[in-house]
Amino acid sequence: MQIQENFPLRAYNSFGIDANTRHFARFSNDDQLKELLLAVQRSPLSQQNLLILGGGSNILLTHDLDGWVLKNEIQGIEEVHEDNEYVFVKAGAGENWHSFVQYCINRNWGGLENLSLIPGNVGASPMQNIGAYGIELEDVFWDLEAYHMNDHAIHTFTQEDCQFGYRDSVFKHKYKNQFVILNVTFRLRKHPIYHTSYGAISQELDKMGVQTLSIQAISQAVINIRQAKLPDPAVIGNAGSFFKNPIISRQNFEDLKLEYPGIVGYASQGDTVKLAAGWLIENCGWKGFRKGDAGCHDKQALVLVNYGNATGAEIYALSQEIVNSVAFKFGVELEREVNVL
Ligand code: FAD
Ligand code: EPU
Repeated sequence: MQIQENFPLRAYNSFGIDANTRHFARFSNDDQLKELLLAVQRSPLSQQNLLILGGGSNILLTHDLDGWVLKNEIQGIEEVHEDNEYVFVKAGAGENWHSFVQYCINRNWGGLENLSLIPGNVGASPMQNIGAYGIELEDVFWDLEAYHMNDHAIHTFTQEDCQFGYRDSVFKHKYKNQFVILNVTFRLRKHPIYHTSYGAISQELDKMGVQTLSIQAISQAVINIRQAKLPDPAVIGNAGSFFKNPIISRQNFEDLKLEYPGIVGYASQGDTVKLAAGWLIENCGWKGFRKGDAGCHDKQALVLVNYGNATGAEIYALSQEIVNSVAFKFGVELEREVNVL
């Protein structure tokens, strides 16, 4: 295992931010991880900051990191169990998410098709309970194994243990920076149930001329929709939605609707409404905005972009201006979805 010093992270974050880390190493099994964690603990206190890195598609680096970046490259996909209805599939945290989705779709295991083309790796998927097109990770999650950074033991987390919420899990709160996710087991359907009611999926399936529904067709429809509005990080740096869609009370929503009849919101849990943050941001005039190389995407206002050489601090400053203007105009607080470092 090689530990590299003053390592450039530009190729390791989808925003394409030019920042370095003092120490960088990769691990592909738990023994290597243990060895690296012991090295972190032996390093000077000032350098014990630690980032476990997957695909780097949900982070914003606002400065050089004076510590460690350990990149999780644990591979492997294994069918661990099956019954009449389900197949249980375990995937290593370092597997690429979309490749894993395709692996399952090719075997006609249903459940992941709506989550096609989300960047990043399997290990990060439970962190924020990734979601898209009407499905969230928790709908297909069975359990995960994670390595505790201090007691060096491997713990199993069930669905209940993970406390999944909208872009949320226990790993962002109670267990923040305590565990390294090693693998995730998914419960997939042998006889898929199709979810096509969300957003433009049905419309896209019609456009594709699909006569007989399949998980392959749904996956392709989702890919087409995503490619039409989300910037490809290989072309323009970004981390997907920069903010969460804010959840407000129904009363608050009704009041806003009187003043802004076009406001977009969806019924959420209890008596709440999830607002489309993209609409709020667009209606503050930010869509397509660019200052230097930091910008707000011209097809999806919820996505902040790096046109080339923006710094993380510039992207962050833009995000703060957006937060301020949305709060000023609509009285709604935007919360960042991206992990800011
Ligand atoms: P990273 O960015 O590497 O890490 C994210 C966080 O998880 C960090 O805090 C990191 O320390 C932690 N982490 C990563 N791996 C581990 C591990 N093994 N153990 C412990 N902690 C770990 N997200 C959605 O939910 N839905 C979408 O539709 C969506 N669309 C996107 C579209 C684009 C174009 C982009 C760029 C991003 C999009 N995202 C979306 C966000 C992103 O793809 C997901 O959050 C993804 O799960 C991040 O995976 P990653 O491996 O890149 O994580
Ligand atoms: N909208 C606008 N202007 C915009 C963007 C959106 O008015 O510039 C309005 C439109 O009315 C649109 C609605 O917002 O119909 C919803 O937009 P979209 O379908 O693009 O979804 P989103 O709410 O912006 C969420 C997720 C995405 C996920 C999609 C599809 C969050 C924070 N984002 O975006 O996840 O892919 O739904 O399910 O929940 C991510 O987390 O990184 C991400 C990309």
